Amino acid sequence: MANFRIGILGSGGIAHTMARTVAGMDNATVAAVGSRNLESARRFADEFGIERAFGSYEQLAQDESLDLIYIATPHSRHFEDCMLCIENGRNVLCEKAFTANAGQAEKVFAAAKKKGVLATEAIWTRYMPQRFVLDGILKSGVIGDISSLTADLGYSLMHIERLQKPQLAGGALLDLGVYAINFALMAFGSDIKETISCCTKNEYGVDRDNCIIFRYTDGKTAILHSSMAANLDRRGIIYGSRGRIEFENINNCEGITVILNDGSTQRYDTPKQITGYEYEVLSCMKAIEQGAGECSEMPHAESIKVMKIMDSLREQWGIKYPFE
Ligand SMILES: NC(=O)c1ccc[n+]([C@@H]2O[C@H](COP(=O)([O-])OP(=O)(O)OC[C@H]3O[C@@H](n4cnc5c(N)ncnc54)[C@H](OP(=O)(O)O)[C@@H]3O)[C@@H](O)[C@H]2O)c1
Repeated sequence: MANFRIGILGSGGIAHTMARTVAGMDNATVAAVGSRNLESARRFADEFGIERAFGSYEQLAQDESLDLIYIATPHSRHFEDCMLCIENGRNVLCEKAFTANAGQAEKVFAAAKKKGVLATEAIWTRYMPQRFVLDGILKSGVIGDISSLTADLGYSLMHIERLQKPQLAGGALLDLGVYAINFALMAFGSDIKETISCCTKNEYGVDRDNCIIFRYTDGKTAILHSSMAANLDRRGIIYGSRGRIEFENINNCEGITVILNDGSTQRYDTPKQITGYEYEVLSCMKAIEQGAGECSEMPHAESIKVMKIMDSLREQWGIKYPFE
């Protein structure tokens, strides 16, 4: 597709990373940015040489020249920002967690289907090539009978307001736990028989740290941990009777190592990236070119499954956002 035009909605941290990513891609341009504040949009546009700067999300959503709008706002806003873009006929790539709850995700996908546009979740780990390398290793049977996995993700982020406040749909689960859950679903699927979990809350009542165990119908277990209070080691490890697979950094794979019980190892390096966010953009380009409403790497049903799991975990922990 020649010169694919992307609009970025929001001008915060990840919006900057996406603008840097697209600058390194062929056939794609960030053609517009929308911010709640025109000054902020102009600053962002100047920094990246972007053609159009809008002082409202509405104006960005109405820009018919855009092939895709990337939504980079706090979780609490994803629903209304997706709906705004979709109602204006735009294709959307919306940051994770896709929405604050499953009901909102279902409404967004229904609206996108009705309007005939693409809507997909920017959960970058689903689109990365290392995800498919892991699939191949699992299918090969090299580690024998697989029984369990562990995965964790955590950073010291207690100073970030977006993560602390319930009104912004904060908490470790929607921001970091979502990667651990996606890792488990990518490796073991979603036929989960029982979920055992607990969390420790921050002073505003959202989860600061959480521990989750999925017991699968086939007897496998997935043991997940996420935290916004500490840097965790970020590894995903899948255990089998003949060895284990170590996935370094479930947030952005830095390499996969298969370690067999006899001590032999095999390493799978990660291909060179721009930032790693290019894969989700490439997938959107392909889906739009094919007239598809969803990306095959992260179908709507998978986003809804993840949101339902997170809804039920929050229910177990007694966490409800004020707007729910
Ligand atoms: N995939 C990844 O690796 C990754 C990494 C980081 C974040 N994320 C996701 O990206 C999204 C944004 O995260 P971020 O770290 O970029 O957040 P951020 O730096 O706080 O930026 C969020 C932007 O959203 C807009 N916004 C609208 N309403 C807001 C409100 N009430 N409070 C604060 N900002 C508001 C602001 O842009 P304007 O002022 O221009 O309107 C703000 O700059 C989240 O969904 C997060 O989970 C993903």
